[in-house]
Amino acid sequence: MAEKTKRIGILTAGGDCPGLNAAIRGVGKTAILKHGMDVYGFSSGFLGLINQEYRRLDEQALSGILTMGGTILGTSREKPFKHKDYDEYVKSKPDRIAETCRDLSLDALICIGGNGTMKTAGRLSTMGINVIGIPKTIDNDVWGTDTTFGFDSAVSIATEAIDRMHSTANSHKRIMVVEVMGHHTGWLSLYSGVAGGGDVILLPEIPWKAEVLKNCLLRRAELGKPYSIVVCAEGVKVQGKAYKKMNSGTAVAHLIQDMTGLDTRETILGYIQRGGSPSPRDRIIATELGAYAADMAAKQKFGRMAAYKKGELATVRLEEVAGKTKMVPPEHPLIQRAKSIGTCFGDAL
Ligand code: F6P
Repeated sequence: MAEKTKRIGILTAGGDCPGLNAAIRGVGKTAILKHGMDVYGFSSGFLGLINQEYRRLDEQALSGILTMGGTILGTSREKPFKHKDYDEYVKSKPDRIAETCRDLSLDALICIGGNGTMKTAGRLSTMGINVIGIPKTIDNDVWGTDTTFGFDSAVSIATEAIDRMHSTANSHKRIMVVEVMGHHTGWLSLYSGVAGGGDVILLPEIPWKAEVLKNCLLRRAELGKPYSIVVCAEGVKVQGKAYKKMNSGTAVAHLIQDMTGLDTRETILGYIQRGGSPSPRDRIIATELGAYAADMAAKQKFGRMAAYKKGELATVRLEEVAGKTKMVPPEHPLIQRAKSIGTCFGDAL
Protein backbone atom coordinates (compact mmCIF):
# COMPACT_ATOMS: atom_id res chain seq x y z
CA MET A 1 0.00 0.00 0.00
CA ALA A 2 1.16 3.53 -0.80
CA GLU A 3 1.96 6.04 1.97
CA LYS A 4 -0.84 7.23 4.26
CA THR A 5 -3.59 9.42 2.78
CA LYS A 6 -2.70 12.90 4.07
CA ARG A 7 -4.40 15.35 1.80
CA ILE A 8 -7.80 15.10 0.10
CA GLY A 9 -9.90 17.29 -2.20
CA ILE A 10 -13.71 17.49 -2.29
CA LEU A 11 -16.05 18.77 -4.97
CA THR A 12 -19.79 18.85 -5.61
CA ALA A 13 -20.91 18.50 -9.24
CA GLY A 14 -24.15 18.33 -11.24
CA GLY A 15 -27.51 19.69 -10.08
CA ASP A 16 -27.57 20.69 -6.43
CA CYS A 17 -29.76 18.99 -3.82
CA PRO A 18 -30.48 19.18 -0.10
CA GLY A 19 -27.74 17.39 1.91
CA LEU A 20 -24.65 18.42 -0.06
CA ASN A 21 -23.29 20.50 2.81
CA ALA A 22 -24.04 17.70 5.28
CA ALA A 23 -21.97 15.38 3.07
CA ILE A 24 -19.08 17.88 2.74
CA ARG A 25 -19.13 18.21 6.54
CA GLY A 26 -19.23 14.42 6.98
CA VAL A 27 -16.21 13.89 4.72
CA GLY A 28 -14.26 16.88 6.01
CA LYS A 29 -14.76 16.44 9.75
CA THR A 30 -14.02 12.71 9.60
CA ALA A 31 -10.92 13.34 7.49
CA ILE A 32 -9.61 16.01 9.89
CA LEU A 33 -10.71 14.71 13.28
CA LYS A 34 -10.42 10.95 12.81
CA HIS A 35 -7.65 10.66 10.25
CA GLY A 36 -5.63 13.88 10.66
CA MET A 37 -5.86 14.76 6.96
CA ASP A 38 -5.78 18.17 5.26
CA VAL A 39 -8.93 18.94 3.27
CA TYR A 40 -9.33 21.17 0.22
CA GLY A 41 -12.65 22.16 -1.36
CA PHE A 42 -12.84 22.85 -5.11
CA SER A 43 -15.25 25.49 -6.44
CA SER A 44 -18.02 24.78 -8.95
CA GLY A 45 -17.55 21.06 -9.54
CA PHE A 46 -14.86 19.96 -12.01
CA LEU A 47 -14.34 23.61 -13.06
CA GLY A 48 -12.50 24.23 -9.79
CA LEU A 49 -10.11 21.39 -10.57
CA ILE A 50 -9.56 22.59 -14.13
CA ASN A 51 -9.01 26.23 -13.11
CA GLN A 52 -7.26 25.55 -9.80
CA GLU A 53 -9.94 27.29 -7.75
CA TYR A 54 -9.93 25.83 -4.28
CA ARG A 55 -9.67 26.65 -0.61
CA ARG A 56 -8.59 24.90 2.53
CA LEU A 57 -11.51 23.54 4.55
CA ASP A 58 -10.64 23.56 8.25
CA GLU A 59 -12.95 22.61 11.11
CA GLN A 60 -14.32 26.12 11.30
CA ALA A 61 -15.22 26.18 7.60
CA LEU A 62 -17.15 22.95 8.14
CA SER A 63 -19.12 24.19 11.15
CA GLY A 64 -22.71 25.40 10.96
CA ILE A 65 -23.38 23.96 7.50
CA LEU A 66 -25.28 20.74 8.33
CA THR A 67 -28.73 22.22 7.83
CA MET A 68 -27.89 24.56 4.95
CA GLY A 69 -29.36 23.97 1.49
CA GLY A 70 -27.24 24.17 -1.68
CA THR A 71 -23.49 23.65 -1.51
CA ILE A 72 -20.85 25.90 0.08
CA LEU A 73 -18.49 24.85 -2.73
CA GLY A 74 -20.82 25.71 -5.60
CA THR A 75 -21.51 23.31 -8.44
CA SER A 76 -21.63 23.16 -12.24
CA ARG A 77 -22.51 20.72 -14.99
CA GLU A 78 -18.96 20.86 -16.40
CA LYS A 79 -18.05 17.57 -18.15
CA PRO A 80 -14.26 17.57 -18.64
CA PHE A 81 -14.28 14.57 -21.00
CA LYS A 82 -16.87 15.94 -23.40
CA HIS A 83 -15.26 15.78 -26.83
CA LYS A 84 -16.27 19.24 -28.02
CA ASP A 85 -14.45 20.70 -25.04
CA TYR A 86 -11.12 19.42 -26.35
CA ASP A 87 -8.86 22.01 -27.89
CA GLU A 88 -5.74 20.51 -29.36
CA TYR A 89 -3.83 23.79 -28.90
CA VAL A 90 -4.37 23.95 -25.13
CA LYS A 91 -3.85 21.29 -22.55
CA SER A 92 -6.96 19.10 -22.31
CA LYS A 93 -9.19 19.52 -19.31
CA PRO A 94 -8.44 16.03 -17.91
CA ASP A 95 -4.71 16.84 -18.11
CA ARG A 96 -5.29 20.08 -16.24
CA ILE A 97 -7.22 18.17 -13.59
CA ALA A 98 -4.33 15.70 -13.21
CA GLU A 99 -1.92 18.63 -12.95
CA THR A 100 -4.00 20.27 -10.18
CA CYS A 101 -3.99 17.00 -8.23
CA ARG A 102 -0.18 16.77 -8.63
CA ASP A 103 0.44 20.46 -7.81
CA LEU A 104 -1.59 20.14 -4.62
CA SER A 105 -0.13 16.68 -3.80
CA LEU A 106 -3.66 15.34 -3.40
CA ASP A 107 -3.76 11.73 -2.22
CA ALA A 108 -7.48 11.41 -2.95
CA LEU A 109 -10.33 13.26 -4.62
CA ILE A 110 -13.91 12.91 -3.33
CA CYS A 111 -16.52 13.63 -6.01
CA ILE A 112 -20.07 14.18 -4.74
CA GLY A 113 -22.60 13.96 -7.56
CA GLY A 114 -25.09 12.01 -9.61
CA ASN A 115 -24.77 9.70 -12.60
CA GLY A 116 -22.79 12.14 -14.78
CA THR A 117 -20.36 12.86 -11.95
CA MET A 118 -19.80 9.16 -11.27
CA LYS A 119 -19.03 8.65 -14.97
CA THR A 120 -16.43 11.45 -14.91
CA ALA A 121 -15.05 10.16 -11.60
CA GLY A 122 -14.64 6.70 -13.17
CA ARG A 123 -12.71 8.16 -16.10
CA LEU A 124 -10.43 10.18 -13.81
CA SER A 125 -9.81 6.99 -11.88
CA THR A 126 -8.68 5.14 -15.03
CA MET A 127 -6.22 8.04 -15.58
CA GLY A 128 -4.61 7.08 -12.27
CA ILE A 129 -6.23 9.70 -10.00
CA ASN A 130 -7.36 8.31 -6.64
CA VAL A 131 -11.08 9.01 -6.80
CA ILE A 132 -13.96 8.18 -4.45
CA GLY A 133 -17.60 8.91 -5.37
CA ILE A 134 -20.52 9.86 -3.14
CA PRO A 135 -24.00 9.58 -4.73
CA LYS A 136 -26.49 12.46 -4.46
CA THR A 137 -29.59 13.47 -6.41
CA ILE A 138 -33.23 14.23 -5.78
CA ASP A 139 -33.95 11.79 -8.65
CA ASN A 140 -32.70 8.75 -6.64
CA ASP A 141 -31.46 7.22 -9.90
CA VAL A 142 -27.78 6.53 -9.23
CA TRP A 143 -27.11 2.90 -10.03
CA GLY A 144 -25.42 0.74 -7.38
CA THR A 145 -26.92 2.30 -4.24
CA ASP A 146 -30.27 1.74 -2.54
CA THR A 147 -30.72 5.45 -2.07
CA THR A 148 -29.19 8.89 -2.57
CA PHE A 149 -29.47 11.91 -0.30
CA GLY A 150 -31.65 14.71 -1.64
CA PHE A 151 -34.44 12.33 -2.55
CA ASP A 152 -36.17 12.25 0.84
CA SER A 153 -36.24 16.06 1.09
CA ALA A 154 -37.61 16.35 -2.45
CA VAL A 155 -40.31 13.76 -1.68
CA SER A 156 -41.39 15.86 1.33
CA ILE A 157 -41.47 19.10 -0.68
CA ALA A 158 -43.40 17.52 -3.58
CA THR A 159 -45.79 15.77 -1.18
CA GLU A 160 -46.58 19.01 0.62
CA ALA A 161 -47.29 20.66 -2.74
CA ILE A 162 -49.59 17.79 -3.80
CA ASP A 163 -51.36 17.95 -0.42
CA ARG A 164 -52.13 21.60 -1.12
CA MET A 165 -53.58 20.75 -4.54
CA HIS A 166 -56.44 18.75 -3.04
CA SER A 167 -58.34 21.69 -1.53
CA THR A 168 -58.04 23.98 -4.55
CA ALA A 169 -58.89 21.10 -6.91
CA ASN A 170 -61.95 20.32 -4.77
CA SER A 171 -63.11 23.95 -4.64
CA HIS A 172 -63.10 24.26 -8.44
CA LYS A 173 -63.98 20.63 -9.26
CA ARG A 174 -60.88 20.38 -11.41
CA ILE A 175 -58.26 17.95 -12.56
CA MET A 176 -54.88 19.07 -11.23
CA VAL A 177 -51.74 17.82 -12.94
CA VAL A 178 -48.58 18.20 -10.85
CA GLU A 179 -45.28 17.79 -12.67
CA VAL A 180 -42.41 16.69 -10.43
CA MET A 181 -38.72 16.43 -11.38
CA GLY A 182 -37.17 13.27 -12.78
CA HIS A 183 -35.94 13.57 -16.35
CA HIS A 184 -35.22 9.86 -16.84
CA THR A 185 -36.82 8.14 -13.86
CA GLY A 186 -40.02 8.30 -11.85
CA TRP A 187 -38.85 7.68 -8.27
CA LEU A 188 -39.93 11.12 -7.10
CA SER A 189 -43.23 10.89 -8.97
CA LEU A 190 -43.96 7.46 -7.47
CA TYR A 191 -43.10 8.30 -3.85
CA SER A 192 -44.63 11.79 -3.73
CA GLY A 193 -47.60 10.54 -5.77
CA VAL A 194 -48.37 7.77 -3.29
CA ALA A 195 -47.65 9.97 -0.24
CA GLY A 196 -49.79 12.80 -1.61
CA GLY A 197 -52.71 10.55 -2.59
CA GLY A 198 -52.38 11.02 -6.36
CA ASP A 199 -55.25 9.36 -8.25
CA VAL A 200 -53.05 8.92 -11.33
CA ILE A 201 -49.26 8.59 -11.28
CA LEU A 202 -47.27 8.67 -14.52
CA LEU A 203 -43.65 7.52 -14.70
CA PRO A 204 -41.24 7.35 -17.66
CA GLU A 205 -40.68 3.65 -16.88
CA ILE A 206 -44.34 2.62 -17.34
CA PRO A 207 -45.77 2.97 -20.86
CA TRP A 208 -49.25 4.45 -20.51
CA LYS A 209 -52.21 4.84 -22.84
CA ALA A 210 -54.22 8.06 -23.27
CA GLU A 211 -57.40 5.94 -23.40
CA VAL A 212 -56.73 4.44 -19.98
CA LEU A 213 -56.07 7.86 -18.49
CA LYS A 214 -59.27 9.22 -20.02
CA ASN A 215 -61.41 6.30 -18.78
CA CYS A 216 -59.96 6.55 -15.29
CA LEU A 217 -60.69 10.28 -14.96
CA LEU A 218 -64.17 10.08 -16.53
CA ARG A 219 -65.07 7.15 -14.30
CA ARG A 220 -64.02 9.10 -11.21
CA ALA A 221 -66.21 12.01 -12.36
CA GLU A 222 -69.14 9.62 -12.98
CA LEU A 223 -68.72 8.20 -9.50
CA GLY A 224 -69.24 11.70 -8.16
CA LYS A 225 -65.62 12.33 -7.21
CA PRO A 226 -65.36 16.09 -7.58
CA TYR A 227 -61.71 16.26 -8.59
CA SER A 228 -58.65 14.22 -9.46
CA ILE A 229 -54.93 14.67 -8.88
CA VAL A 230 -52.49 13.49 -11.56
CA VAL A 231 -48.81 13.32 -10.57
CA CYS A 232 -46.54 13.26 -13.57
CA ALA A 233 -42.76 12.89 -13.85
CA GLU A 234 -40.88 15.45 -15.92
CA GLY A 235 -39.57 12.70 -18.22
CA VAL A 236 -43.02 11.38 -19.23
CA LYS A 237 -43.62 11.57 -22.99
CA VAL A 238 -46.99 12.51 -24.49
CA GLN A 239 -47.85 11.25 -27.99
CA GLY A 240 -49.15 13.73 -30.56
CA LYS A 241 -47.69 16.66 -32.47
CA ALA A 242 -49.78 19.23 -30.55
CA TYR A 243 -48.09 18.31 -27.26
CA LYS A 244 -44.54 17.91 -28.54
CA LYS A 245 -42.98 21.20 -27.40
CA MET A 246 -44.70 21.30 -24.01
CA ASN A 247 -43.38 20.31 -20.59
CA SER A 248 -44.73 16.92 -19.66
CA GLY A 249 -47.14 18.39 -17.05
CA THR A 250 -48.52 20.93 -19.50
CA ALA A 251 -48.84 18.30 -22.24
CA VAL A 252 -50.65 15.86 -19.94
CA ALA A 253 -53.00 18.62 -18.75
CA HIS A 254 -53.82 19.68 -22.35
CA LEU A 255 -54.33 16.06 -23.38
CA ILE A 256 -56.75 15.48 -20.47
CA GLN A 257 -58.69 18.66 -21.23
CA ASP A 258 -58.90 17.72 -24.94
CA MET A 259 -59.96 14.10 -24.27
CA THR A 260 -62.39 14.58 -21.39
CA GLY A 261 -63.57 18.19 -21.52
CA LEU A 262 -62.98 18.30 -17.75
CA ASP A 263 -61.56 21.56 -16.43
CA THR A 264 -57.85 20.88 -16.03
CA ARG A 265 -54.85 22.86 -14.72
CA GLU A 266 -51.16 22.08 -14.38
CA THR A 267 -48.50 23.05 -11.83
CA ILE A 268 -44.81 22.53 -12.53
CA LEU A 269 -42.97 22.29 -9.22
CA GLY A 270 -39.48 22.84 -10.68
CA TYR A 271 -36.46 23.92 -8.66
CA ILE A 272 -38.33 24.36 -5.40
CA GLN A 273 -37.82 20.58 -5.09
CA ARG A 274 -34.03 21.03 -4.94
CA GLY A 275 -33.85 24.01 -2.59
CA GLY A 276 -33.74 24.53 1.16
CA SER A 277 -32.72 22.59 4.22
CA PRO A 278 -32.32 18.79 3.99
CA SER A 279 -34.76 16.51 5.80
CA PRO A 280 -33.48 14.70 8.93
CA ARG A 281 -33.19 11.47 6.91
CA ASP A 282 -31.11 13.18 4.20
CA ARG A 283 -28.85 14.73 6.84
CA ILE A 284 -28.23 11.27 8.24
CA ILE A 285 -27.62 9.64 4.82
CA ALA A 286 -25.27 12.46 3.76
CA THR A 287 -23.37 12.37 7.05
CA GLU A 288 -22.99 8.58 6.92
CA LEU A 289 -21.91 8.47 3.28
CA GLY A 290 -19.51 11.39 3.82
CA ALA A 291 -17.88 9.90 6.91
CA TYR A 292 -17.69 6.50 5.20
CA ALA A 293 -16.02 8.03 2.12
CA ALA A 294 -13.36 9.63 4.36
CA ASP A 295 -12.73 6.20 5.91
CA MET A 296 -12.45 4.76 2.37
CA ALA A 297 -9.82 7.43 1.60
CA ALA A 298 -7.88 6.48 4.75
CA LYS A 299 -8.03 2.80 3.74
CA GLN A 300 -7.11 3.78 0.17
CA LYS A 301 -10.19 2.15 -1.34
CA PHE A 302 -10.04 4.19 -4.54
CA GLY A 303 -11.97 3.92 -7.80
CA ARG A 304 -15.12 3.23 -5.77
CA MET A 305 -18.39 4.87 -4.77
CA ALA A 306 -19.73 4.90 -1.20
CA ALA A 307 -23.18 3.33 -1.27
CA TYR A 308 -25.98 1.63 0.65
CA LYS A 309 -26.57 -2.02 -0.15
CA LYS A 310 -29.59 -3.58 1.60
CA GLY A 311 -29.45 -0.75 4.11
CA GLU A 312 -25.75 -1.25 4.97
CA LEU A 313 -22.86 1.01 3.95
CA ALA A 314 -20.83 -0.60 1.17
CA THR A 315 -18.54 0.25 -1.74
CA VAL A 316 -19.22 -0.23 -5.47
CA ARG A 317 -16.61 0.03 -8.24
CA LEU A 318 -17.04 3.26 -10.24
CA GLU A 319 -16.62 1.38 -13.50
CA GLU A 320 -19.70 -0.67 -12.58
CA VAL A 321 -21.77 2.48 -11.88
CA ALA A 322 -20.69 4.53 -14.92
CA GLY A 323 -23.21 4.88 -17.72
CA LYS A 324 -26.07 3.15 -15.86
CA THR A 325 -29.32 4.56 -14.45
CA LYS A 326 -31.35 3.03 -11.65
CA MET A 327 -34.86 2.90 -13.11
CA VAL A 328 -38.08 2.18 -11.18
CA PRO A 329 -38.86 -1.50 -11.85
CA PRO A 330 -42.48 -1.78 -13.05
CA GLU A 331 -42.95 -4.61 -10.53
CA HIS A 332 -41.81 -2.34 -7.66
CA PRO A 333 -43.82 -3.28 -4.51
CA LEU A 334 -45.00 0.32 -4.01
CA ILE A 335 -46.53 0.33 -7.51
CA GLN A 336 -48.30 -2.93 -6.75
CA ARG A 337 -49.62 -1.59 -3.41
CA ALA A 338 -50.76 1.66 -5.05
CA LYS A 339 -52.58 -0.30 -7.77
CA SER A 340 -54.30 -2.36 -5.09
CA ILE A 341 -55.84 0.84 -3.66
CA GLY A 342 -57.01 1.94 -7.10
CA THR A 343 -54.22 4.28 -8.20
CA CYS A 344 -54.01 4.43 -11.98
CA PHE A 345 -50.61 4.23 -13.72
CA GLY A 346 -52.18 4.44 -17.17
CA ASP A 347 -51.02 0.96 -18.12
CA ALA A 348 -54.10 -1.23 -17.65
CA LEU A 349 -56.38 -2.58 -20.43
O1 F6P B 1 -30.92 16.87 -10.26
C1 F6P B 1 -31.62 16.21 -11.29
C2 F6P B 1 -32.63 17.12 -11.84
O2 F6P B 1 -33.33 17.55 -10.74
C3 F6P B 1 -33.58 16.57 -12.91
O3 F6P B 1 -34.70 15.93 -12.44
C4 F6P B 1 -33.85 17.79 -13.73
O4 F6P B 1 -34.25 17.51 -15.03
C5 F6P B 1 -32.54 18.46 -13.74
O5 F6P B 1 -32.00 18.22 -12.46
C6 F6P B 1 -32.55 19.89 -14.11
O6 F6P B 1 -31.46 20.58 -13.58
P1 F6P B 1 -30.63 21.70 -14.30
O7 F6P B 1 -31.57 22.67 -14.89
O8 F6P B 1 -29.82 22.27 -13.18
O9 F6P B 1 -29.78 21.06 -15.35
